Amino acid sequence: MALAMMDTKTQYGIVSRVLHWGMALLFAWQFSGAVFRVFFEDTALEAFLWGTHRTVGVILMALILLRVVWALFSASRRPESVGVMAKLGHIALYALMLAVPGIALIRQYGSGRALDVFGVNLMSGGGERVDWMVNLGGLLHGELGWALLALIAGHIIMAFVHRRSPSQDVLSRMV
Ligand code: HEM
Ligand code: HEM
Repeated sequence: MALAMMDTKTQYGIVSRVLHWGMALLFAWQFSGAVFRVFFEDTALEAFLWGTHRTVGVILMALILLRVVWALFSASRRPESVGVMAKLGHIALYALMLAVPGIALIRQYGSGRALDVFGVNLMSGGGERVDWMVNLGGLLHGELGWALLALIAGHIIMAFVHRRSPSQDVLSRMV
């Protein structure tokens, strides 16, 4: 069957796949940077990977917003989840994908410092420091980021566990 733009009950379409795999690559990059920051501080590779953390984070934030809109728009067409746990797992992935960069941007704004992405000035800076915004990010951004990584690991494992039963082989819907 040719791959359609839209999702169907039996497989994800092109838009959903490009979002899913494109963002998976960006998340891999983003988490590599975070891992290097923790384990290989002050190495050249850390500087290279971590140096793009804000930029890639902002790109991910934009893509996540698009993806939420697309998921809601496609909700009635998409393949059924293989169970309630799969459904809840995907909802949790969405919640963390929104919260992690969202909280970082709130902190960035509250810090009163400027934010530029590819030379575009997203936040002008120079404002007052807003304590609750900075504290919220300090408390939750990194922690929820690691929780998201753990959830993604579980998600990938489950995608392969489900391959063992032909009726639950969800990988073929996305690949
Ligand atoms: C989905 C996108 C993002 C993910 C998955 C992510 C993930 C992470 C993780 C796991 C850490 C913890 C690193 C550590 O323990 O040392 C971290 C730290 C940090 N992130 Fe992000 N991040 C994202 C987006 C952003 C954005 C958009 C910004 C800023 C505009 C940002 C700014 C920072 C900063 C300043 C730190 C160091 C302070 C801290 O640990 O909170 N991140 N990020
Ligand atoms: C090697 C990496 C990955 C594999 C093998 C994989 C596999 C899959 C499969 C097979 C599905 C379809 C599940 C179903 O129909 O019930 C799916 C959906 C999904 N995956 Fe992944 N995935 C990977 C990485 C990621 C990453 C990094 C994220 C981001 C947090 C993610 C988030 C989601 C979400 C939210 C869905 C629900 C459909 C959607 O809205 O796109 N996946 N994945």
